[in-house]
Amino acid sequence: MSNTAKMIVDKDFIISTIDNRLYGSFIEHLGRAVYGGIYEPGHPQADEQGFRKDVLSLIQALRVPIIRYPGGNFVSGYDWKDGIGPKDQRPDRLELAWRTVEPNQFGLNEFVDWSRIAGTDVMWAINLGTQGIDDARNIVEYANHRSGSYWSDLRIQHGYTNPHSIKTWCLGNEMDGPWQIGHKNAVEYGRIACESAKVMKWVDPTIELVACGSSGSGMATYPEWEAIVLDHTYEHVDYLSLHSYYGNHENDTATFLGRSLEMEDFIRSVSATCDYIKSKKRSKKKLSLSFDEWNVWFHSNEADKKIEPWQIAPPQLEDVYTMEDALVVGCLLIALLKHSDRVRMACLAQLVNVIAPIMTENGGAAWAQTIYYPYMHASIYGRGQALVPLIQSPKYDTNTITDIPYLESIAVYNEEASEVTIFAVNRDLTNSLPLEVDLRSFGNCTILEHLVLENSDLKATNTSAQPNRVQPHNSGNAKSDGNRINASLSKASWNVIRVSLH
Ligand code: AHR
Repeated sequence: MSNTAKMIVDKDFIISTIDNRLYGSFIEHLGRAVYGGIYEPGHPQADEQGFRKDVLSLIQALRVPIIRYPGGNFVSGYDWKDGIGPKDQRPDRLELAWRTVEPNQFGLNEFVDWSRIAGTDVMWAINLGTQGIDDARNIVEYANHRSGSYWSDLRIQHGYTNPHSIKTWCLGNEMDGPWQIGHKNAVEYGRIACESAKVMKWVDPTIELVACGSSGSGMATYPEWEAIVLDHTYEHVDYLSLHSYYGNHENDTATFLGRSLEMEDFIRSVSATCDYIKSKKRSKKKLSLSFDEWNVWFHSNEADKKIEPWQIAPPQLEDVYTMEDALVVGCLLIALLKHSDRVRMACLAQLVNVIAPIMTENGGAAWAQTIYYPYMHASIYGRGQALVPLIQSPKYDTNTITDIPYLESIAVYNEEASEVTIFAVNRDLTNSLPLEVDLRSFGNCTILEHLVLENSDLKATNTSAQPNRVQPHNSGNAKSDGNRINASLSKASWNVIRVSLH
């Protein structure tokens, strides 16, 4: 096979009109995500509510459409009522998921206020670990019912006359995991998820619900968990969740870069399981997927074992991301786009300080990690229609994964802006990759810009001292000739080729 990669893109070969919520994220009461991350009264950049404006502007630039909150493992022991009402009456609680103390100075109403400023919607996860049907219906009544009932009037008394209108709700978190507070087997979870779903939708029929799938494809109960849970919940829920984290534990970068192929396999088999239950139930409904936790996570594993318990907001899960992690995140974003007909929502886990694209210092600076850039590019330029990528690429094998294409790519057509954006990763660690794109159904094309994220050191990071060591440049060499594009993709690079169709 030649060492040139070829791609055909045709505007009639559409995967999906992308749901913008594919570019969602996640904030958990964990480590310094909330306290010292998005909320830090007394910080020089804090507004009158204690929200850090420097962090907000980094988030606004990402155009995050939806944020999952308040957990994660945290939510399975959380009483949402601890986080409402006068702050001086809120309790300090032992938080058992991450062994910290939760001061409850930031809760539901603060998050809704903050999310409006951040320009994002809320995806609220309810506690199905230590709580159940009653709290499930009560929180929907508090958040979404207009007035004239105990919980809606309490919200009004707390200063929020208008309902929050939270549309998207997760029915618990990773309930298949033995580490979860209130862990359940699939039948136990399926039953409580079904009964909670019913009452939540009776309170507010406009909401959408996400049932918990497995917390990873490596779980012993996967995919039987999905089948049993959906047997109980299929007609009551709108999405099934997937979670997956990737790491370079063996320092084998070639394999690490191929992990997005495993993400695609995971999506395919969860889709098949949903369709099996659809046929079993003779249902007309096709269930969508919410990949509501995904990222690279491994750098902080050892440091986290040494953290003293029962502190408020210690530095937990603070992965410092490298250039190669950004390439993996780029490949994972492309994998999500390739399955965007089925995966309608996804959340990069997480957003600030905790396995996050944004880092802060308490009382100090905020900056963008390496993975911030592919996420930002996809969120900004990846809106419109995902087009089928017909790709011919040279491939490589590693000891664990075979047939990994050097080129990972997809194109998104934004009809309104009359633009096509090609996202491409060159997985080759030693050679640049010639790329030919045939945009046959489009007219004359002009290159608007070719953004590239690359670094001679794959382990390069951005830190407080060097916040801009890894950042994109726009000196990529893509050229157009009619409706054909040629580029040479630098070794180990993330590329965004923006094409105007005017
Ligand atoms: O995102 C960190 C943790 O990973 C979440 O709390 C949990 O849901 C998952 O295991």
